[in-house]
Amino acid sequence: MANRLGLTLQQKNPILASVCIHHHTSPSSTSISCAFDSHPQKLPKTLKKKYKDRTSSGYRTPRRVVLGIGAAFWAQFMSMAGNTGFKSFAASARQKSAIEQVLKNVEWPEQFPFKEEDFQRFDESPDTSFYESPRFVTHIDNPAIAALTKYYSEVFPPSTTPGIAILDMCSSWVSHFPAGYKQDRIVGMGMNEEELKRNPVLTEYVVQDLNVNPKLPFEDNSFDVITNVVSVDYLTKPMDVFKEMSRILKPGGLAVMSFSNRCFWTKAISIWTSTGDADHAMIVGSYFHYAGGFEPPQAVDISPNPGRSDPMYIVYSRKLATA
Ligand SMILES: C[S@@+](CC[C@H](N)C(=O)[O-])C[C@H]1O[C@@H](n2cnc3c(N)ncnc32)[C@H](O)[C@@H]1O
Repeated sequence: MANRLGLTLQQKNPILASVCIHHHTSPSSTSISCAFDSHPQKLPKTLKKKYKDRTSSGYRTPRRVVLGIGAAFWAQFMSMAGNTGFKSFAASARQKSAIEQVLKNVEWPEQFPFKEEDFQRFDESPDTSFYESPRFVTHIDNPAIAALTKYYSEVFPPSTTPGIAILDMCSSWVSHFPAGYKQDRIVGMGMNEEELKRNPVLTEYVVQDLNVNPKLPFEDNSFDVITNVVSVDYLTKPMDVFKEMSRILKPGGLAVMSFSNRCFWTKAISIWTSTGDADHAMIVGSYFHYAGGFEPPQAVDISPNPGRSDPMYIVYSRKLATA
């Protein structure tokens, strides 16, 4: 039986309950679990003030930062195969395989179901300011990085294969590729030049704000693999970016979007910060589906130590061989 994505993906009755808190909980938890990367537990004073100022002045309506909305999201908008309601899905969502089931046999609505406001962020200031200073940090813990690197070693073309080109979108000073991995062309795209300059795996880099200019500065059919690590949630024009990804991938080329439950929540899109892990897989899957030119997307849960380290999920697809 097919999974059905509801036509409306707006939460009803949003309530501001809390800022995002990082949980080392079940990898498939449907509760909100993104974190303020550098300081997961607290909202900085400046932001508290900013939020208060904005809301009390009526300058901006409270955005949908809600705890537990992931579960509500599914209850309201998803009709899962074999489930009679939210409770049964929530229970199954606690199992590792639930994330992997989310993209199986989806009945997608005809039209892209998200609205413009789903791509708003708490901090709408230019991304160039936010990423102005380099951050030589890692955004997920070591077991999660190791799981991702292992996954890459299983799906990447062998190191130093002639003619292979890889694009690491939303890149920084690390790409988490297997140790010693090389190709003729490994391009990093990101926001901070100092970070990209230090990334040892890259053969070239491009600094570009994809939320201002989503056009990828590359020829059609020129990349074998595109990666994006813990950053798909910052894209405010994902349809444009995914269409571009489809254009620049070679037929059969692989796009691997990975994410955890951590993020710079002020910069992540509203639909991400108000939903949970399983929803995130569906959201990324929808980008592939509606961009066109891709095979049906699939989700993989590569979380290394469920409940004890950062979860790690992959949503991937290949460009259609005929596209
Ligand atoms: C959480 S970091 C992840 C970096 C790297 N992928 C990693 O795994 O360490 C988010 C990255 O997304 C990129 N990013 C955020 N907003 C972006 C935008 N508007 N355009 C292009 N890249 C962006 C930044 O360059 C930043 O390095």
